[in-house]
Amino acid sequence: MSTSATAMGVASAHMSALRVSSSSPASPISSPSSSAAPTFAASAMPEHQNARRSGRGTPTGPPAGGPARRPAVGVADMPPSFHAERGGRGRAVAVSASRVGGRWQSVRVHDNPFRPGFGISPPLLAGRDALLAEWREVLGLGAWSPFRAALVTGMRGVGKTVLLNAVEDEARGRGWTVVHGTLHVGLVEALERDRLPALLQAQDPEAYARELTGVTLPQLGGATTQVVPQYPREPRLESMLARLVELTEARGAGVLLSLDEVAVESMQELRRIAIAVQHLLREDRRVAIVAAGVPASIAAALEADGLTFFRRAQQVRLDTLTLAEARAAIAEPVRAHGRSIGEAALERAARASEGYPFLVQTIGARAWEHRPADDEITADAVEHAVEVAYATMGESVIVPALRGLSGRDRDYLLAMAEDDGPATTADVAERMGATSGNAGRQRARLLDAGVIVVPGRGLVDFAIPRMREHLREHPHDAQLGLPTAARRTFRD
Ligand SMILES: Nc1ncnc2c1ncn2[C@@H]1O[C@H](COP(=O)(O)OP(=O)(O)O)[C@@H](O)[C@H]1O
Ligand SMILES: [Mg+2]
Repeated sequence: MSTSATAMGVASAHMSALRVSSSSPASPISSPSSSAAPTFAASAMPEHQNARRSGRGTPTGPPAGGPARRPAVGVADMPPSFHAERGGRGRAVAVSASRVGGRWQSVRVHDNPFRPGFGISPPLLAGRDALLAEWREVLGLGAWSPFRAALVTGMRGVGKTVLLNAVEDEARGRGWTVVHGTLHVGLVEALERDRLPALLQAQDPEAYARELTGVTLPQLGGATTQVVPQYPREPRLESMLARLVELTEARGAGVLLSLDEVAVESMQELRRIAIAVQHLLREDRRVAIVAAGVPASIAAALEADGLTFFRRAQQVRLDTLTLAEARAAIAEPVRAHGRSIGEAALERAARASEGYPFLVQTIGARAWEHRPADDEITADAVEHAVEVAYATMGESVIVPALRGLSGRDRDYLLAMAEDDGPATTADVAERMGATSGNAGRQRARLLDAGVIVVPGRGLVDFAIPRMREHLREHPHDAQLGLPTAARRTFRD
């Protein structure tokens, strides 16, 4: 077999997203112009095969009718070198191949290890070891820990969801049952109707059947049975959770409730769940709850009636990564996947990320795929990646962060953006034409929302990387009511 054919074989063995198929059993690759030319078909991998990595923020399922298939291309039709890839949320796989004089010289599969986006666990979860150790305590043998009820908060893209993923993995690894939910109106109903029954049934099918049917009465003269629920009025959430905890405790484990995206609109759902869990926690049952949300939502949860329980919960404020952690988050996956990155390139990539996990992954991914056939990720690739990654910040992070703010809050940010570094609160108030008391209200709200930080007395700075630059370039994003540049062209 020729080396090129071996390379193809290796390639197809490694790939799940791209398929290389041959229509002829005879070594067709070395004679690409023959009529029995092989075909190269790129077929989409069903997302569910990769559900874990796809992140639960975006529900994925098997596409109806199986994987979509792109039309097959005969090798003879293909250019002397090509690069094909399939992105997608969960996985980015690409293949490059080049052909010289009818022979394939190299085929290389590039399995990009980075996971840009939201909710997708990174190849290396940097800087969260100490936190995870706290949860290991909770999930271990019986020790009481304040982390049994925890509230995780931090700005968008800082890594709340993937931290929950990691805590859930720890829990499952110890035999715990995980009840995961993204908070939305209707979550409690979904739990009561589908999720908890399914979990209960999986734990103990017989007992579940008994509980569900209660007493069955044979009907007169018939073969049918009538079902009378045992406790028709009992709050289902509470009783089902209690039962689930009981079943898991019997196995020496417990139940972890993991709730993502706490939001003001779904406070009622959170309240219902909190009440049920609070009960079990008070009885020192083996149950733990972790809920995550952006700072403003968590602040609202702490103030909401009926959620006082959370005020005693462990608050976990997720911070950006240190420089060393950001470097590790980039360098280790690169090395683990068989490539290298020079010192200067690594330093630039890490510094440009400002330790913001969303940027770490985006810069890593874009640098990886810039010249995927090279062994080394060069400073040039990183420079290109930084540019692309910064350009995605506006739509992915900054505009969503601005959306929840009032016009006055955004004025405050625009006033801050006039400075190249931290601004003094006095300057900001003056630029806004506000009294310092009024501007102080905006400052407090923005701090709550996790959009600004206080780097020193009387100073404010942006918490989100690139926000200053974005506001300077797109001030209309901060003035959502005003006509955009595009609209103005129609009016003028
Ligand atoms: N500790 C970390 N180390 C490396 N990458 C991370 C880390 N935390 C998060 N990420 C990456 O950052 C991005 C945003 O994470 P996510 O959990 O979705 O943020 P959030 O839920 O806070 O908005 C994802 O691409 C994720 O893989
Ligand atoms: Mg999230």
